[in-house]
Amino acid sequence: MRLDKLLANSGYGSRKDVKSLLKQKRVTVNDSVVKDSSVHVDPEIDFIKVGDHAVHYQKYIYLMMNKPKGVISATEDMKDKTVIDLLTTDLQRFKAFPVGRLDKDTEGLLLITNDGELAHQLTSPKKDIEKVYYAQVQGNVTEGDTEAFTKGVVLDDGYKTKPAQLRILKRDAISEVEVSITEGKYHQVKRMFEAVGKKVMYLRRISMGGLILDETLQLGTYRELTENELYYLRPTNNEMEGFK
Ligand code: URA
Repeated sequence: MRLDKLLANSGYGSRKDVKSLLKQKRVTVNDSVVKDSSVHVDPEIDFIKVGDHAVHYQKYIYLMMNKPKGVISATEDMKDKTVIDLLTTDLQRFKAFPVGRLDKDTEGLLLITNDGELAHQLTSPKKDIEKVYYAQVQGNVTEGDTEAFTKGVVLDDGYKTKPAQLRILKRDAISEVEVSITEGKYHQVKRMFEAVGKKVMYLRRISMGGLILDETLQLGTYRELTENELYYLRPTNNEMEGFK
């Protein structure tokens, strides 16, 4: 890749700032001063320094966010704040995007990355990636609902959902449940409850593909995935060995 792009993506300012660094002879590639911003380098092979600092190029980022209500899971929006707006400008340079969508009023686990291949694997309908939600539901959730979810319910547009697990945590006027689905249809959990005559009042995603929401993350905050989380999030690794 071009040297100016690599440096700009590594936090050394705009392409213009980088040009000025190069002009000042502050950049070396394999210990030789380079002044030409269009030079191509391979971050895997070439040793790049700015002044005394070695440049460690990071291509991908993987962030776990605890999404708050009122924020859109998209990269941009005309009127509302997006999850990308919650990132520091340093991280926004990575051009990351949310993997799958949570509704504006849904909270919880959201993976944000610029790794398109992983995002594809996690959202591909063929992969049956499991997503688990905690929900508060108006009405008394029954064993009948659990059975209906297991068989698949018919949504308002006639689509029959794949088998889903419904675990009743508390049965009351407002019931508490955990729902596990392997699809990602629009408003799926809310519409599944509508199909059995109930209304979701609160929804939070707590896991996806074995990646579990870090409960110490405050709403609206995020952290990088650990190596372990990232390794077992990849569907192929997960299938082979199971999440640890
Ligand atoms: N199902 C929903 O209804 N909403 C979400 O945000 C996620 C799943």
